[in-house]
Amino acid sequence: MNFKAISLCCLSVAAVSMSAKTVTEVRLLPSEESPVIQKEIYGQFAEHLGTCIYGGLWVGPESSIPNTQGYRNDVLNALKELKVPVMRWPGGCFADEYHWMDGIGPKENRPRMVNSNWGGTVEDNSFGTHEFFNLCELLECEPYLSGNVGSGTVEELAKWVEYITAEEGPMANLRKQNGREKPWKLKYLGVGNESWGCGGSFTPEYYSDVYRRYQTYCRNFNGNRLYKVASGASDYDYNWTDVMMKNAGRMMDGISLHYYTVLGWSGSKGAATKFTDEDYYWTLGKCLEVGSVVKKHCDIMDKYDPEKRVGLLVDEWGTWWDEEPGTVPGHLYQQNTLRDAMVAALSLNTFHTFTDRVKMTNIAQVANVLQSMVLTKGDQMVLTPTYYVFKLYIPHQDGKLIPANVETPMRKVRDNREVPAVSVTASTRDGVTAISITNTDLTEEAQVNIDLSGIKATKVSGEILTAASADAYNDFGQPEKVSPREFKGAKLSNGKLTATLPSKSIVTLILK
Ligand code: AHR
Repeated sequence: MNFKAISLCCLSVAAVSMSAKTVTEVRLLPSEESPVIQKEIYGQFAEHLGTCIYGGLWVGPESSIPNTQGYRNDVLNALKELKVPVMRWPGGCFADEYHWMDGIGPKENRPRMVNSNWGGTVEDNSFGTHEFFNLCELLECEPYLSGNVGSGTVEELAKWVEYITAEEGPMANLRKQNGREKPWKLKYLGVGNESWGCGGSFTPEYYSDVYRRYQTYCRNFNGNRLYKVASGASDYDYNWTDVMMKNAGRMMDGISLHYYTVLGWSGSKGAATKFTDEDYYWTLGKCLEVGSVVKKHCDIMDKYDPEKRVGLLVDEWGTWWDEEPGTVPGHLYQQNTLRDAMVAALSLNTFHTFTDRVKMTNIAQVANVLQSMVLTKGDQMVLTPTYYVFKLYIPHQDGKLIPANVETPMRKVRDNREVPAVSVTASTRDGVTAISITNTDLTEEAQVNIDLSGIKATKVSGEILTAASADAYNDFGQPEKVSPREFKGAKLSNGKLTATLPSKSIVTLILK
């Protein structure tokens, strides 16, 4: 059975007259053969950029902001509730200028550097390897390191792996001197970041050789098993994936892909909180295009790796708007509205359909940068609408995908793209079925009729995320403007589920 084909299927209904209500017919297609939605699809990304690390995650143990060993408590607790499965660090572009030895040992001895990618901010290296791995332990998530290939050396990266994972030897002794007796576990290791750009401006031919060399010396110490990730393509660069898979496919466990919902790389990217209805639909169309982009990269990977051993990791994705006026240039601080929440839901729905190949994704970024989970100001924190989507979607983590056949009106949008009125994703875990439904329409309600195809359930409960307008956001002083509420608009009867969603809303239904 071709799950992708089925779950992506949205019938284009010509000349749809948008009545007061759109009607969507869904048939769930549960199957024992369905793949599992790896929880790592819900991964986060934390870069030394703006106030993501300093101020966002980390305030230091001496701070008056309530903290645990230097990690601010409000953010820590919010992330614990999100069940973050994996965190990528220290970049991004920063990774290829990061020298890990600068970030270990007594803080007062750590050298400073200029973060030349991101606003020329002075980095004091007070958040380094120990601070990152301890954070992952507190969050119970997998660390995902991005190694420096662009300006580093093979030796430097090899020693970093040794420092983190070896039980004995010179690097292990150094780690012990710095207060950590036992090695950490390290699974995910990125060999460079955006090696076609800020990570070294390599050609794919040259980088594939460099990748082969670097990965040779990244060893598995004391039972630790690295999952080695090659730096992959940006968006539509299919040649990069082709060359990498051809030249180095058998030496990697994963290859990355970056896809941002962005208007363009030069000029204005548009304001996060001010947009027209047309801009709103364009945004959803651009975000949904990740489906066809991922599919093309997957098709290339299938040529070289039909068994799907190598994972595709979308280790940077999300919206990228203009920086908020008055904020530090280069710090990529942006607000986050219900429109961003829609992008999160539609992207996650899309990633679910590729779960046989897409093994991890990392939204950019966890705090105060781009499409973040949390925004902080001094001792205050707000949870963004995007945070709440990740929360609504927790039941899908490690759930078995239930493909869905969806017939829904399609809207034509700018740049020849289409946006479905309704998007649906479903999964099952421990006898519980979770169905998430997004009504993208700005004005019409959506009636969604779901044929459960024999899935047994006697009770349905739900939560909804919506707001009066798509540009609504949570801010300091009004932190709960866009937050989930109980959803009572679903009914179960005779193996059928009917839900009526208000316009611009995201719902997760739990069936037991
Ligand atoms: O997430 C911000 C930046 O976007 C990352 O540093 C880089 O990898 C990408 O271009």
